[in-house]
Amino acid sequence: MIDIGTGDGLFVYQSARENPKKFYIGVDANPRPLEKLSEKIHRKPAKGGLPNVLFLQAAVEDLPQELNGVADEVHIHFPWGSLLQAVANGDITTLQNIRRICAPQALLEVVLGLDPERDRTEIKRLQIPLPTIEHIDSTLAPLYRSTGFEICERGTIPPPDWPRLHTSWAKRLKGNTNRALLYLIARAVEPDE
Ligand SMILES: C[S@@+](CC[C@H](N)C(=O)[O-])C[C@H]1O[C@@H](n2cnc3c(N)ncnc32)[C@H](O)[C@@H]1O
Repeated sequence: MIDIGTGDGLFVYQSARENPKKFYIGVDANPRPLEKLSEKIHRKPAKGGLPNVLFLQAAVEDLPQELNGVADEVHIHFPWGSLLQAVANGDITTLQNIRRICAPQALLEVVLGLDPERDRTEIKRLQIPLPTIEHIDSTLAPLYRSTGFEICERGTIPPPDWPRLHTSWAKRLKGNTNRALLYLIARAVEPDE
């Protein structure tokens, strides 16, 4: 499983602890928030060490070739900056990069949580539309499809369900009910010719 824009890596760390037979890779362009957990995974198991996790400093625009075809699952939770811009606008080059690291039939989950008021400046700066189900269906679905991702499910996540996301940002945002959480799940298929 590969988590892109993993932040402090908490989602990856907790998932790896719960599923010792799966291998987890957390990727983020910014290594600073990852310092704590990327040190902890190398400790002895009794002290929080985990043999089934790897953290990687890389931007989604520049994912290492070694990741090609390895992911059965890719997660992108609460992206911001260029990662948000790419998934919310359906940027073809970035989606192709993400598709490249997927095994056949892999699942991609994207969770977006924007507040139209508080995030107004960022939404404008990135030139992204406020994500809606209509935007996913009419604009993103064909763009994702052309790069080899068939969107098979999408919807909103009501506030009581946010904690099940187990990421630091899900915790940080809870309580702000202006924020609409939107998710999509896509399956890796053959890209359009
Ligand atoms: C709001 S944080 C979310 C962190 C984590 N997924 C969570 O839910 O707690 C967004 C993360 O996306 C990362 N990010 C932004 N642009 C990126 C890019 N182009 N490539 C990789 N990571 C990126 C940021 O460094 C940041 O850690």
